[in-house]
Amino acid sequence: MAVPVRNNDDRERVRDASDIVRVIGEHLTLKAKGREYVGLCPFHDDSKPSMTVSPAKQIFKCFACGAGGDVFSFIEKYHNMEFRESLEYLAERANIKLSAFQRHEPGVETGEQVISRNDLVQANASAADFFKAVLRHSEHGAAAREIIARRGISPEMVERFNIGASPARWDGLLMTIEKKGMNARAFAEAGLLKTRESDGTYYDSFRNRLMFPIQDQIGRYIAFGGRKIDEADEPKYLNSPETRLFQKSGTLFGLHQASRSIQTERTAIITEGYTDTIACHQAGITNVVATLGTALTRGHAAVLRRLCETVVLLFDGDDAGSRAADRAVEVFFAEEIDVKIATLAGKTDAKDPDELLKRDGGADVLRSVIASSRDLLAYRFERLRESLAGAGVNALSRAITDDLTRMVQLGFNSIPMLRRRLIVRQIASIVGQDEQVIWRAIPGGRPSGQAPQTEAKPLSVPTDPRRRRFQDALGCLMCDPSLWRELTDAEHELLDPGNLDAGDEHDVADAVVTLASGGVSCDVGAVCGRLENAAAQSLATQWAARVESDTDVRAYLKDCLRGLASFEVDTSIEARRRQHAATGGNRRLIPRPVQGR
Ligand code: CTP
Ligand code: MN
Repeated sequence: MAVPVRNNDDRERVRDASDIVRVIGEHLTLKAKGREYVGLCPFHDDSKPSMTVSPAKQIFKCFACGAGGDVFSFIEKYHNMEFRESLEYLAERANIKLSAFQRHEPGVETGEQVISRNDLVQANASAADFFKAVLRHSEHGAAAREIIARRGISPEMVERFNIGASPARWDGLLMTIEKKGMNARAFAEAGLLKTRESDGTYYDSFRNRLMFPIQDQIGRYIAFGGRKIDEADEPKYLNSPETRLFQKSGTLFGLHQASRSIQTERTAIITEGYTDTIACHQAGITNVVATLGTALTRGHAAVLRRLCETVVLLFDGDDAGSRAADRAVEVFFAEEIDVKIATLAGKTDAKDPDELLKRDGGADVLRSVIASSRDLLAYRFERLRESLAGAGVNALSRAITDDLTRMVQLGFNSIPMLRRRLIVRQIASIVGQDEQVIWRAIPGGRPSGQAPQTEAKPLSVPTDPRRRRFQDALGCLMCDPSLWRELTDAEHELLDPGNLDAGDEHDVADAVVTLASGGVSCDVGAVCGRLENAAAQSLATQWAARVESDTDVRAYLKDCLRGLASFEVDTSIEARRRQHAATGGNRRLIPRPVQGR
């Protein structure tokens, strides 16, 4: 291939310096496929990689929605830019000086001139420069520098996050705008200036605050978060209003700084606060971003799922975690990305990651919190079970049904069937039930390809009366754990799991008896929590569910125990057991060839 002739045309120079695979790869994760690359198309709701990027031709093409073009068209389309902006962005990225380049400051006001998106970007960029200069100013930046030092934010992080300060006066930014002859209307529209009602004159929106610029994925300044410096001020954080450039719900603080690392780690960690994100980066955990005081939204997830596969929501406490876990379900249904929840609760008494990271060994604790994050649905059902600990099986099953109903409200029935099946399978294993039971509990949720079931499948009940009594007795205890204390030693003996073969039944019985004799509640939730495999959990739930809600549990338990006592001990088995035990075997685990298995 001939060496490309260097053309003086700006467009050609920038294009030559902007490899399309690298540029697009900074926006979404590309995988090599033959001589080309593929990735999730950002221009439609793509679920399999439909976008192909060709290094040889330097073009992209989506085979599903038809989007395509060169590196400029990608940037224009992705960031909603005009050609000139995309040229300037790519030139800056490639360190190319454009020949006709003049920094496009928002121009002097000329009548009713329309403020463009680019004017808003430039206004924010000028403001960011101004705030950085204030922070360096010996007098006007002193209080802000002191806060930064007290909070232990390093100079590297001040630079990486472009932190600045707004001065403690009403016209700091305004004077700079006027001095440089910039268009104040652009700053007003960007939310940096406000208008006095009395006389229509402008004043600064941000006064005496530590300024955290909010940048988009490619580093453009689109908004600011300002933290109060004077404790007496309100509110604690003041954010730019939403503009054409800035929608809170789709924006992640720190994405520009974190996106490379999110791609390599294939995971994005989302904190609750700006300072948490900065502290994480400072501690070397760099795939971290923050939402802007909102829950995770579809917009966030749509951006992130093109970069990575998993999102970890890192919360200060379990309450925030639970609340967010509810909203995150909606997002998880809408966007194909795995969502996990991690909370500091129980791991540290630090109130947030920022505080934790200031302590010795804090980074290690935080890493272990992140490593032990729980899958969203598992976390959700676990919290449900915890909140119902001690309640009977009916309460639990009602709560699960309610939760499934809630999931339908959150959009479960409108997601693709394959994904729905996977989710049901996952829920079934979490709550320890058959998938069919879950399908039945989901309003309108039965997969269409399945034969309609006119009535609920009855729970399987063993025909062997002795086995049935044994299971029912344990079922009663799982419904009303307090009954254990009313039983005699002989009755406890009748429930000895040693009477069973090794297997799920044995494990359920063992869990009930171990919990109850340890003085702990053996309600069905606790039993499921103790059991490791889904089949055993399912069995426990079934035994408890067989005890009808209108049953007198105490009377029925006594009944079952009387029945059990009346069965003759199978002497031949008992003899084999004794022999087995005498030769050092485990008496409890001897195979027991009865009970119609
Ligand atoms: N927030 C906000 N407006 C407020 C308070 C909070 O927008 N009045 C958002 C900010 O994005 C903030 C996040 O909620 O980062 C978390 O709030 P908080 O925990 O109070 O702030 P921290 O980031 O912990 O700040 P600091 O460490 O300075 O207390
Ligand atoms: Mn906080």
